[in-house]
Amino acid sequence: MRILIMNGPNLNMLGVREPAIYGKRSYRDLVREIRRHAKTAGVAVAFFQSNHEGALIDAIQRRYRRFDGIVINPGALTHYSYALRDCIKAVGLPTVEVHLSDIDAREAFRKLSVTADVCVKQICGKGFAGYLEAVDELKKGNDLP
Ligand code: DQA
Repeated sequence: MRILIMNGPNLNMLGVREPAIYGKRSYRDLVREIRRHAKTAGVAVAFFQSNHEGALIDAIQRRYRRFDGIVINPGALTHYSYALRDCIKAVGLPTVEVHLSDIDAREAFRKLSVTADVCVKQICGKGFAGYLEAVDELKKGNDLP
């Protein structure tokens, strides 16, 4: 099984960005932790991070045929990117949405996810562990929404 791990705007700033919310560990630490977990789970993973909506969409469109599922933290795009939502729906891969923080317990604008209902599951508020759980979910197998 091959899983594409996608991260959106500002997730490259982990460790620097609002550490009280997102923690002190970096994006490199996140990649390392997911790689370690995937190896134990017997899953192949590839990573992509961009601060640009179009670049994320291009990457999914270019690469989806080589993957069995997607784990995505769209960052703030979660709350308004219908284009990213349409892309997830278009490629038809089971996708798990992850948020490091609990988006329901923060500002009002974060409560709405326009991507969640095209994903098989949303995991939030579990920090790095949410990504590991997402990998396990995809490994388990899930019906498309
Ligand atoms: C986030 C939550 C979003 O609201 C925010 O814009 C992010 C990170 C999270 O991982 O908790 O960039 O997706």
